[in-house]
Amino acid sequence: MNLPEIIKNSEAYVAERFPVEKMSYSAMVVKKEVPVHRLSWAYYMGGLALFFFGVQMVTGLLLLFYYQPTVSDAHASVEFITDHVPGGSLVRNMHAWASSMMIAAVMVHLLTAFAMKAFAKPREITWVTGVVLLGITFGLGFTGYLLPWHQVAVNATKIGLQSVQEVGQYLPGAMAEWPRIVKETIQGEAAVGQATLSRFFALHVIILPLAMMATLGLHLLSVQLHGMSRGIDGPPKRQEKFFPTFFIKDLTVWGFAFIILFVIALCVPFESLYSYPLFEPFNPKGSTPDGIKPEWYFYFLYYPLELLPFWVILVGSTVLGAVLMGTPWIFQNTSRKTLQILTVLAALYLFVMTVFGEQIYHMFKG
Ligand code: HEM
Repeated sequence: MNLPEIIKNSEAYVAERFPVEKMSYSAMVVKKEVPVHRLSWAYYMGGLALFFFGVQMVTGLLLLFYYQPTVSDAHASVEFITDHVPGGSLVRNMHAWASSMMIAAVMVHLLTAFAMKAFAKPREITWVTGVVLLGITFGLGFTGYLLPWHQVAVNATKIGLQSVQEVGQYLPGAMAEWPRIVKETIQGEAAVGQATLSRFFALHVIILPLAMMATLGLHLLSVQLHGMSRGIDGPPKRQEKFFPTFFIKDLTVWGFAFIILFVIALCVPFESLYSYPLFEPFNPKGSTPDGIKPEWYFYFLYYPLELLPFWVILVGSTVLGAVLMGTPWIFQNTSRKTLQILTVLAALYLFVMTVFGEQIYHMFKG
């Protein structure tokens, strides 16, 4: 193929993924329709993730009024927010609960988009930007965990960063040094300290949210340009108007989500789910608390990591990342039936590891 042909083919490829002729209010809003069928509930999942992201932006901005990103004051400022700022405990609790709810919504959204084959041509960019959004969402969870600067958070972050460095032992030659360099760049100094807190703070409140907004913009533009995918084999029962019918239903789902979040945040302090005292400020001379674990949404990786050799998890997660990124091309000819079986297996694995991971760990390690 010569250069003009390559350029022409690339133009055709991009034009099919981003049909600018559809970039109008009429095509993207007035004429948009949503198929009605047995899996229609799945079309609410992306919107739900979007709603929780909005909650995180609002509650996170409110927390910023009082939070101090320094090793000496971070813990005390979080305690001050919880105990002395009017509504502070509620806002902090909503931020913590909504982060978990957002991750759960994103996971369900990914699984249903996969089962419905919503990644297929011409929606490759919607899918790939979705995988990036998943990475950013996990990144926000990981960086946010350190900010209260308590004993568990700092030690868990140390363990997380240490596992990045351990990747080096499996890489050849000069590449063996790369993970250590990555770890030290994130950490900012020899041990987890002020430089780490400053970097995690910058990542959590500026860099990752900006990256999220840019990627989300592309994701949603691509969704609006292509309309909703059919989602099932065969024709849907009927189509309903996106605006106002589906949009009002979306808002109703958001209203219920808000009520549930508000009531839970009001009644159940997030920390009460943990068996160790979260409120101990970090003490560099203190011991690593027993039973220290990451947040629940990392259990699917954490428990296998505790049970299996590190290299098995490393290979497994690299393959998983590559398969997720390559899904639109790897599974382009796979039937929805097979995709649905794979989805059920993946959901079962996530459920079992998240809910029974600890029991499985004790079964093997005593
Ligand atoms: C912060 C995270 C995310 C947000 C806020 C978000 C938001 C949305 C929204 C609002 C929609 C349209 C409604 C719907 O189909 O549910 C959508 C569609 C879609 N999303 Fe996401 N998404 C996120 C992450 C992901 C992830 C992790 C994936 C998969 C890797 C993904 C893949 C898709 C696909 C393929 C569609 C098109 C669905 C269709 O046409 O039927 N998204 N997303």
